[in-house]
Amino acid sequence: MDWGMKNRMSRLIKPEDGRAVWLAVDHGYFLGPLSKLEEPAQTIKPLLPYTDALMLTRGVLRNCVDAGLDIPVILRVSGGNSIVGPALSNEAIQTSVEEAIRLNASAVAFSIYIGTEHEHQTLIALGNLVSEAERYGIPVLAVTAVGKELQKRDARYLGLCCRIAAELGARMVKTYYCEDFERVVKSCPVPLVVAGGPKLKTKMDALRLAHAAVNEGARGVDMGRNIWQADNAVGVIKAIRKIVHDNASVKEAAKLL
Ligand code: 5RP
Repeated sequence: MDWGMKNRMSRLIKPEDGRAVWLAVDHGYFLGPLSKLEEPAQTIKPLLPYTDALMLTRGVLRNCVDAGLDIPVILRVSGGNSIVGPALSNEAIQTSVEEAIRLNASAVAFSIYIGTEHEHQTLIALGNLVSEAERYGIPVLAVTAVGKELQKRDARYLGLCCRIAAELGARMVKTYYCEDFERVVKSCPVPLVVAGGPKLKTKMDALRLAHAAVNEGARGVDMGRNIWQADNAVGVIKAIRKIVHDNASVKEAAKLL
């Protein structure tokens, strides 16, 4: 691995413990101004001190984040779909690698939609993105997206998606936690992080998810709604950090809520 790639990867996944807490605020690229992310600057600012990296689009980065930011950026470069459009899976590259370099991104993120009519399109685009990003030492984070079909989140399907993403060259994969998650981790040769998914019933559920995921082999979380849609977002992210970086139990971490 070249120095630039190694350096970017080590800014994203902390070398001290091999773990990561990333804050995902990229949702607007297909969901528009969803609840608690209507004004991204206000949502993001208080959470930054507890975040190892920020996942977002170029529009929110340029307009809602201070350029003095000293944490790495994971730039969402896929899109072209919307929640009211005909197919959520119809994504392609909407931000170039050149733009990612201009924005000093530490990684680029791309969603793949396996098992949908756009499987081929998103997989070929992932492969092409990897080929280009690797030229500049930029890691690609593949996101195993399920669109509206949340029931797809089982070990067989996610294991398939994560493995294919890694085979096509993604340096890291973002997926969902599921029953038998260890199986997904075992068959994926690159680091995995988990999304939180739609808001769970309680904050404790979000902590349990993070705890189970890292204990079963995830490197950490790339979490959005379960952090910033919570009534005490700062408390939640602090508690998740404690679980991911300090191996805290759910009970211990919950004291930070
Ligand atoms: C969808 C995405 C998201 O927009 C987001 O990053 C997911 O985060 P969360 O599920 O924790 O809100 O990647 O595929």
